Amino acid sequence: MDSVSTRVSIRSYVRPPRDSQPPSLYEPYRATIKRAPSKPLVVLPHTLSEITGPIFGHEKVGEKDNDLTCQHAGEPIGERIIVSGRVLDSNGRPLPNALIEVWQANSAGRYRHVKDQHPAPLDPNFTGAGRTLTDGQGAYRFITVKPGAYPWFNHYNAWRPAHIHFSVFGTAFITRLVTQMYFPGDPLFAYDPIFQSIPDEKARQRLISKFDLETTQPQWAKGFRFDIVLRGPEATPFET
Ligand SMILES: [Fe+2]
Repeated sequence: MDSVSTRVSIRSYVRPPRDSQPPSLYEPYRATIKRAPSKPLVVLPHTLSEITGPIFGHEKVGEKDNDLTCQHAGEPIGERIIVSGRVLDSNGRPLPNALIEVWQANSAGRYRHVKDQHPAPLDPNFTGAGRTLTDGQGAYRFITVKPGAYPWFNHYNAWRPAHIHFSVFGTAFITRLVTQMYFPGDPLFAYDPIFQSIPDEKARQRLISKFDLETTQPQWAKGFRFDIVLRGPEATPFET
């Protein structure tokens, strides 16, 4: 009997163009010094396991899980925003049913996490985590508040530009993109080694959302668009 590998031909994914992804070692981003592989990577051939296999959590997504402003008794403090966009593959085709998870600091720049003890207030009405599935057109939408910039210990006077962490799961557990979305015009970009670790300027710009009047709602919330491209020359950079 034929094995699966002889009946199905698998086309390899397009590898990202050089410099469009951050290197695993970028010394100004200090945490990479300890965690970067010390030996050259072994590139494995793509197999069926990238497009099949278990998926995680899709069936547990609630209708309101994409609204980070309605998870508590009251509304969180901060600038209410709508973040929306599409998830696309390397050929510009929309990816339906992708699980998107986000996590972020509150509007004062504080995470609800035991490790974040810097002196900014926690908001009792904001947890900072949400998730959703892309629809048939690959579209997603979150309602949240704009996160604040926060200090970290990477170097003297280090501050992260405001950002929202994104994780995208595709059709299998192994197909995952983890990245960060930024906001236009942030003065901290030039000083942030995580943002700067992406060598290609154009690729870096793809992590910055765009203000969008079309998805902005009068008297209610500003809209920002952030499209995610999973592979190919326009791929959204990963975070290291
Ligand atoms: Fe963060």
